[in-house]
Amino acid sequence: MAELKSKFLQVYAVLKSELLNDSAFEFTDDSRHWIDRMLDYNVPGGKLNRGLSVVESYKLLKLEKELTDDEFFLASSLGWCIEWLQAYFLVLDDIMDSSHTRRGQPCWFRLPKVGMIAVNDGIILRNHISRILKKHFKGKPYYVDLLDLFNEVEFQTTHGQMIDLITTFVGEKDLSKYSLNLHRRIVEYKTGYYSFYLPVACALLMFGDNLESHGNVKGILLEMGTYFQVQDDYLDCFGDPKEIGKIGTDIEDFKCSWLVVKALELCNEDQKQILNENYGKQDPACVAKVKELYKELKIQDVYLEYERTRYEKITNSIEAHPSKEVQAVLKSFLAKIYKRHK
Ligand code: IPE
Ligand code: MN
Ligand code: MN
Repeated sequence: MAELKSKFLQVYAVLKSELLNDSAFEFTDDSRHWIDRMLDYNVPGGKLNRGLSVVESYKLLKLEKELTDDEFFLASSLGWCIEWLQAYFLVLDDIMDSSHTRRGQPCWFRLPKVGMIAVNDGIILRNHISRILKKHFKGKPYYVDLLDLFNEVEFQTTHGQMIDLITTFVGEKDLSKYSLNLHRRIVEYKTGYYSFYLPVACALLMFGDNLESHGNVKGILLEMGTYFQVQDDYLDCFGDPKEIGKIGTDIEDFKCSWLVVKALELCNEDQKQILNENYGKQDPACVAKVKELYKELKIQDVYLEYERTRYEKITNSIEAHPSKEVQAVLKSFLAKIYKRHK
């Protein structure tokens, strides 16, 4: 695993150096340095689960036969395209969510020298994906499908982000519109497609296959995506910032988090009033009151039960799939996230 990761990181170095020497732009030392620093700060510092999954999935599809150097490079490049996509979403997400830290360091836009230049950096990150795909995949029979896939997934993610954001609109803070169904819609689109569907779809395209011919695999991946985002919502409030690398802002931001949806389901009228008065406020005392209420309602136990039953349900769906290879791909994904703390 450590070896895979270090080989994967070598591919990052190659891709970065190609981007820094892209002849389509007249780079100067300053501009090259900016991109170099911006990439190192935002692209490789996460868990790399999504990117590595492309390589692992491709390997499983090849029935564990050793990948050629070329195959390794291509599968890794697709993995890096997803990490680039993630960096693009996160740089902009942190601005929109007024976050402070990410991956154990200040959010990119919080650096005094960066500020709103981060908006353009986000767009550059998105553009790099097209550059990487053009350089390494143009001419492959699946090139058009790849471009289309990234476009589709970007469409889904940005629209998930949109509903995540417009539900928190200041001035009309109304918790009564928050439901499990709204939550499911938000997280399936903002997280599920790019984090779970995309890595497998990339591996399958490179393998000469596609997800349409794989029954309900897409459905299972999206279920995992929902489960993953419920964990993210939980960790936003109850996780250790040192482990998750970020300080939660969901309560302050009036987010339609799984926690507040569950709290609304379980609370009595007095408790609902506490939520109405304190949810979505910057004041740390208000945030503390919301967290206290979560404890009173034993939301942590509700979460543990959710985690257990989701895991069982997803495992059952995976085991019902006819192909052992596909089962292996899906199980390795699930194992990575089950009971995660970060
Ligand atoms: C954002 O979800 C998902 C995307 C970046 C598309 P969150 O807003 O919950 O993500 P974090 O908690 O800031 O990482
Ligand atoms: Mn966020
Ligand atoms: Mn979050």
